[in-house]
Formats: sequence, structure tokens, C-alpha cells
Amino acid sequence: MESFKAVLGLVTCIVAVSLVHGASVSVSRNITTKPTPEPPSSGPRVDITLECIGSSSDLSYYIKNQVNWDFKDSNGVVHPITQSFYAATGATASYADSNFKAGRFEFKYETNKMTGFYQFILLIKGVKYSDDGEYTCTLIAENKTVADKKTLKVTVVHPVDSVMLTLYDSMNNNKLYTSNAPVTDSTEAIPIKPGSFRVECQAKGSNPAPKVDIRFDGASIAMSDTGDKSVVSGRPSYSKTLSVTQDVAAKDMDQLFSCDANIAGNHYVTKVASIKVRAIIDTPDFLCDNLTRSVGDNHVEVKCILLSESELACDKVTWEIAEENFVMHVDDRHQDPERKYGILELTCTPINSTSLSTSLIVHQAADPHFATVFYVIYDGGPKDFKHAVIINKQAGRRRTSISRKRNEPPSDVDYPVTPLVKDDQLFCQSLGTGLDGVVVSRSSSDLMTHTMHTGDIDHGTTGSMSDHMAAAILRSLSGDVTGHNMTGRSPVMSPVMSPVRSSH
Ligand SMILES: *[C@@H]1O[C@H](CO)[C@@H](O)[C@H](O)[C@H]1NC(C)=O
Ligand SMILES: *[C@@H]1O[C@H](CO)[C@@H](O)[C@H](O)[C@H]1NC(C)=O
Ligand SMILES: *[C@@H]1O[C@H](CO)[C@@H](O)[C@H](O)[C@H]1NC(C)=O
Ligand SMILES: *[C@@H]1O[C@H](CO)[C@@H](O)[C@H](O)[C@H]1NC(C)=O
Ligand SMILES: *[C@@H]1O[C@H](CO)[C@@H](O)[C@H](O)[C@H]1NC(C)=O
Repeated sequence: MESFKAVLGLVTCIVAVSLVHGASVSVSRNITTKPTPEPPSSGPRVDITLECIGSSSDLSYYIKNQVNWDFKDSNGVVHPITQSFYAATGATASYADSNFKAGRFEFKYETNKMTGFYQFILLIKGVKYSDDGEYTCTLIAENKTVADKKTLKVTVVHPVDSVMLTLYDSMNNNKLYTSNAPVTDSTEAIPIKPGSFRVECQAKGSNPAPKVDIRFDGASIAMSDTGDKSVVSGRPSYSKTLSVTQDVAAKDMDQLFSCDANIAGNHYVTKVASIKVRAIIDTPDFLCDNLTRSVGDNHVEVKCILLSESELACDKVTWEIAEENFVMHVDDRHQDPERKYGILELTCTPINSTSLSTSLIVHQAADPHFATVFYVIYDGGPKDFKHAVIINKQAGRRRTSISRKRNEPPSDVDYPVTPLVKDDQLFCQSLGTGLDGVVVSRSSSDLMTHTMHTGDIDHGTTGSMSDHMAAAILRSLSGDVTGHNMTGRSPVMSPVMSPVRSSH
């Protein structure tokens, strides 16, 4: 017996010298588990096994040295659990004591049958949320220094408690709507104005951190898988607030914001909150004056101002002639297929982001124009906003083609140099009765224009000139005038003032 001990001692000594240097331990993989259900009768008990395995099969190595398990809980407090082959003892061992006494912890050491390596096994029975934390296995060398140490994480999962989706007006960050549940097919959409929105999703209560995914009409627009940790009644509880800005266009259908939140893995059903919206622009106000004009009047401008609470854009403006299947776009000239209305020109100018001015310009008023309702139409996405305007026929005497209603602001319309539509030439020729002598000048016109508007034109000059005037104007427009660069801004009415005034 003595000799055996001596031999063992010698062997131990040799092994310690040769093996402790570079010795190590490894631990089993991180564990993610649900807790034992509460009450325990509602489901099977959950037990977990933590293993710390030495790098040597030589038992004596571990006798000379020491392997310890300890546990760092959610609050960061470290509790010794085992020391060498035994449950921890001493001043800091109350956690180990109570769990071993309660039969929750079991500890054993044995050789691994596969590798022959020694292993230190901690069994935790009836896993609870409070078992969530880090379990560290430390190998302490004979000289009391730490030779190696490995940690395994036990995550006792908890579902997302709540998910809250909030829609904010991104301009002034007003909260518009909040939801903590998914919408159903029958949920009424929230009416919103198209524009930019901030969408915020808050998921709370999970362990580990939730994966949060904000979607707009099914497509992910923001994602996160991190969170802020806190400890709620002894268990880790993560929360995450994720925010993203999204543009919502006006559409003839409901659009859906949703937020999915869940922890990784298939432990729990994903929690969803969603908000159904329908983006519709505010009905614009149409401020349009119905005009009163005479046959032959030139450049009859039907002007409408559109005002809205929502943004307005000129590319959403069209005009129509009632009962004609004929849509006219702004910044273009149009000739109706039947040529009843002559050349119609459309302009549109933004006033500011929520208002614009659009005009339909009749180059020369004729009977069909008076018997017609013109519609100015704003494409509001899901619906069109439509407003009727008419040109009333002046009763009694005719006014000259160039006269205007008193106080009407001077026309500021630019006639672009781009050639008229191909029908123009016909249109012009049909009017033409060689007024070649009329001086058509596009320069030095401002003063003239102004003079005209001070009023003596409206007193009624003879109507016979008007068609000739029109012809002259149209000819000038269609490019008869040479030597002038017609891209410049030039009020078109002014050239004919001179002859009219002289006819008084
Ligand atoms: C303790 O022993 C280890 C392993 O033999 C060695 O690497 C380390 O230097 C020693 N430390 C001290 C302070 O002696
Ligand atoms: C185990 O968990 C820890 C802490 O969360 C982590 O740093 C480590 O990478 C994990 N190990 C494995 C093998 O997943
Ligand atoms: C835009 O212009 C209209 C018309 O001049 C005005 O009534 C409105 O207050 C303006 N809106 C903004 C946002 O400037
Ligand atoms: C202009 O005429 C249309 C069509 O008759 C009418 O609906 C509208 O009220 C009139 N607008 C004004 C400002 O009188
Ligand atoms: C007219 O003016 C435009 C822009 O200033 C210029 O590009 C063009 O060459 C000019 N045409 C003539 C005929 O002068």
C-alpha cells in the first residue's frame, strides 16, 4: 500500500510537470431552452446537462489540479457551484447549497466512455428563468493560477411580450396611429395623405433579443436582431425600438405597415402588429372663373387655381372636353380629332407645393367653345378630382378679338417655338386673308401690353378686324416672323395693339 502510494505520487508528479503546461478544458455547447412550464403539471420538466471535459485522460492530473464550475446570473452576480469534485462551500456558496439541497443540482465526474477524458458534469433539473446566465468551467493549476477557463451560455427563452407599431407624420413627428395587434381583412384602413411617414416598432419582453422586422406591403423596410437588456423579476428581458421612414404614394388600394417580432428559432409564434392605411390626397379647391367672350376672341385663357392641403403637382393635371374622348396634357398643344375646337393649349405652373395654376388657352374663340364644358382634372391617385368650367358667349355686340375683360391680368403665356401640331398649318390657312401689312413685332412689347390693359380697348372697336388680327397672330406664332429668336418670353398679344389703337 505504501509503495503503491509512492508510485502514484511519483506518477502524479511526472504527469503534473509534463501535462499541466498547456492543459485545457472544453465545455459543451451553449444551451437554449424553454423553462419548465408553470405550473409543473402543465408540461414535462426541463433538465439540462453542462459538461466540462479535460484535455487529458489522466485522472491524477485533476487530483493535483482543480476544476471548478461557477455561474454568473442575469444581474452579473457570480455564484460558485462546484469546487474540484464537490459542491462549493464557504461564504459565497449559499446559491450552490440551496440548489443542491433542493435536489435541483446534481454533480458527477467520470471518464468519457468515448474519449477516456475526464469530465465534470453539472445537471440542472427543472430549469427556471433564473437559470439563464453564463456557466464557467475553470482549470486551476497546482500553483493556483488559472490554466484555462471556458464559458457556456444557457438561455432560458421567453417570448416577445408585446409589439407596438406606431405611425408618425415624418414632417412634425405627430403620432398618427398605434397598433399592438394584426389587422384583419375587415379592418378599416386609416385614411392618410400621401407623403413621408416615420414607422416605429417596439418589441418588449423577450429573451434573447427579438428579431424585429418592419414591412411595408410585405417588403421588409427595416430589420434588427439586437436589443437592450434589463432584468424583470429575475429574468433577462430585451426590448428593441426600431424606426424607419417610408414614402407612401396615393393608391387605389389599402397599403399595410406591419411589424413582426420574435426570438430566433421556432420556440414561439411571431407577434405581429399592423396598420392598414389608404393614402388619398385632400380634395383640392378649384378656383376657376367662367369667362364671357365673343366669337373670334383670341387667346381666351380659362384659368384655374388649385389649392389643397396635400402636395399638388402639374404632371397630375389634365383637361377634358365634355363628351369628347379627348384627354389633354399640360405643356402641350392639342387639336381635337374633329377639329371643332381648333388649337387648345394647356399650361400649368406650380404656385407652391400645395397649389398650382393651370390654364386652357383657346387660340381663337369659336361657337363650339361656347357650347362646351371643359373639365380640369387632378389625378388624386385612387380618384380623380374634376371641375367644370365654361366660356359663356358675350351677349349683344361683339368685342374685338383682342379685347379683354377689364381688370383681367395680362397674359403671360409663353408660346414655345416648337412647331404647332401638324394641323396648325391648316388651321392657320383657314383663317388667313393676307394681312401681311400688319407689323408683327415681338419686341418692345411690355409697354404696349400695359397700355392695352389700362382699358380703352374694351370700348368696342369694330369687329371686322378681329379675324385678320387672329390670322396675323397665328402666322407670327407659326413662324412667319423671321429674325427673332422666339424662345424668349414675349407677350403675344402686344404686336397687334398698334393697328387696333390706330383704328379708333
Ligand atoms: C503556474 O503553473 C503554470 C503551469 O505549469 C505555469 O505556466 C505558470 O507560469 C505558473 N505560474 C506561477 C506564478 O508560477
Ligand atoms: C455561446 O454564447 C456566448 C455568449 O453569448 C457566445 O459568445 C459564444 O459565441 C457562444 N458559443 C457558441 C459555440 O455558439
Ligand atoms: C400656397 O399658395 C396659396 C395660394 O397663393 C396659399 O393660399 C397657400 O397658403 C400657400 N401655401 C403654402 C404652404 O405656402
Ligand atoms: C362655371 O360653369 C360651370 C358649368 O356650368 C358651373 O358648374 C360652375 O359653377 C361655374 N363656376 C362659377 C364660378 O360660376
Ligand atoms: C435662340 O435662343 C436659344 C436659347 O437662348 C439658342 O439656343 C438658339 O440658338 C437661338 N436661336 C437663334 C436662331 O438665334
